[in-house]
Amino acid sequence: MSWPQQGGAAGEGKPDQYGLVGHPVSHSWSPFIHGMFAQSTAQNLSYRLFDIAPQDFRRDILQLFTGGVRGLNVTLPHKQAAADLVNELTPRATRAQAVNTIAFFEDTTLLGDNTDGVGLTVDLERNMKVALADKRVLMLGAGGAARGVLGPLLERELREVVIANRTSHKARSLAAEFADLGTISGCGFSEIGGPSYDLIINATSASLHGAMPSLPDGLVGEQTVCYDMAYGRAQTPFTAWATAQHAARACKGWGMLVEQAAESFLLWRGIRPNTRPVLDALAPHL
Ligand code: ATR
Repeated sequence: MSWPQQGGAAGEGKPDQYGLVGHPVSHSWSPFIHGMFAQSTAQNLSYRLFDIAPQDFRRDILQLFTGGVRGLNVTLPHKQAAADLVNELTPRATRAQAVNTIAFFEDTTLLGDNTDGVGLTVDLERNMKVALADKRVLMLGAGGAARGVLGPLLERELREVVIANRTSHKARSLAAEFADLGTISGCGFSEIGGPSYDLIINATSASLHGAMPSLPDGLVGEQTVCYDMAYGRAQTPFTAWATAQHAARACKGWGMLVEQAAESFLLWRGIRPNTRPVLDALAPHL
């Protein structure tokens, strides 16, 4: 495999094409984020949104790559379909069985990666100064968003991870898949045991539908950090719940969005942009 051909510095010829595929995608901030990255690293690239319905995913993605697109981010609902489509997976994407970044190489290899987990851990550790070692973590949800981040989280020597899901057997089978990486178990929402957790991560898509799972009392203590992987301008149902429970902090996934984008940019361009200016630029809008 060879490195994707790069267009070089800004202003030198036609920009290399990148983008985001999802359904829907119109709400996305990724063009803004990658635009700032390209400017700050002087990379000549464009980044567009592609709204592709699930039944058209395979055909349309292959058309984009044969049409000259060099890399794509992948979001809901295509992350697992993207893992099936590519020719090769990075070890972390293999672990997740979910892909949020595809790179197209000159020898026509499509490489699938997953930068969500490293995006989350960098946001927690570097931006929010949350130390993860020896912490008890409650993960809400057992879909693609959860499986994307479990590997990198478990690498942090957590004391324990509990996955809780509306459909409890999915939580148990996801926990079994990651059991070789640490102490991890799965259960239904009503079965979540105390004492309070250090970190509660919402990886359900409930926030996107304006819903919040009903959870037992006693999960949030004065030290608990609550992190919603969803992001938006207003409070989400999860951050509203966390605030009402007097969590130490209640955050949305803006930082994770920016950090996973920086890791995708690194895969495509060989350079990791400084994320601080983008986080600062977004802050007044949140
Ligand atoms: P994603 O790739 O974003 O994780 P997914 O694979 O469809 O999307 O998974 C969505 C997750 O959100 C699942 O854990 C789902 O629970 P089920 O496995 O029981 O379906 C969870 N979820 C979606 N809507 C929910 C709601 N209203 N309340 C609680 N959990 C919800």
